[in-house]
Amino acid sequence: MNRVRLRQATVADAGLLERWQQPAYIGEFNRFGIPPRPLRDEIREHGLVGSDRGALIVELVADSTPIGTVSWHPELYGPNAESVAWNIGINLIPEGRGRGYGGEAQRLLADWLFASTAANRVEAMTDVENVAEQRALEKAGFRREGILYGSQFRGGAWRDLVVYSLLRAQAGSPPTIASG
Ligand SMILES: CC(C)(COP(=O)(O)OP(=O)(O)OC[C@H]1O[C@@H](n2cnc3c(N)ncnc32)[C@H](O)[C@@H]1OP(=O)(O)O)[C@@H](O)C(=O)NCCC(=O)NCCS
Repeated sequence: MNRVRLRQATVADAGLLERWQQPAYIGEFNRFGIPPRPLRDEIREHGLVGSDRGALIVELVADSTPIGTVSWHPELYGPNAESVAWNIGINLIPEGRGRGYGGEAQRLLADWLFASTAANRVEAMTDVENVAEQRALEKAGFRREGILYGSQFRGGAWRDLVVYSLLRAQAGSPPTIASG
């Protein structure tokens, strides 16, 4: 039984999601010094779920408290449509961390992406020092594949990322995502 679920953002979430762009809510491995941007219009247009990328709110099943977001964008491994993989990301706010929700949320996102698109591969990358995310992905069934050396520039230095994947053959039953 899942303790978290994913749902589409509504205009009522705009203030919350804008606040979550401040450094206090962003995990150190997700901090790139990118200035917060207004989200209200984007949410009104497509609820943050675009045709080739998007974000969903992670909330507790027990009382619907929102605890963070998951997101996805395409990664191209060839010129044809079949070679597009989804690269996913997550940011739980501090109160949502350390309780095992991160793996659950990312697994729900992967299963939903397999059910709603034709992609064969969902991948996640994280800093070699982000042990919590590595454990969360492993608990969610993702396979550790290797290191992308010097691939990410964050906090004034080049970082090494660990790559994880989940393939369609391992997809679970698709979760229901409440729309906005
Ligand atoms: C990373 C994140 C998704 C992990 O989800 P979570 O629900 O907090 O993770 P969990 O509670 O399942 O903890 C994961 C594991 O990491 C371990 N862990 C956490 N911090 C650790 C550390 N600094 N060193 C070693 N292990 C650590 C926990 O003990 C746990 O292990 P266990 O399940 O074997 O006991 C979440 O904390 C988060 O959103 N953090 C901020 C943003 C971020 O880093 N996103 C990923 C960027 S790529």
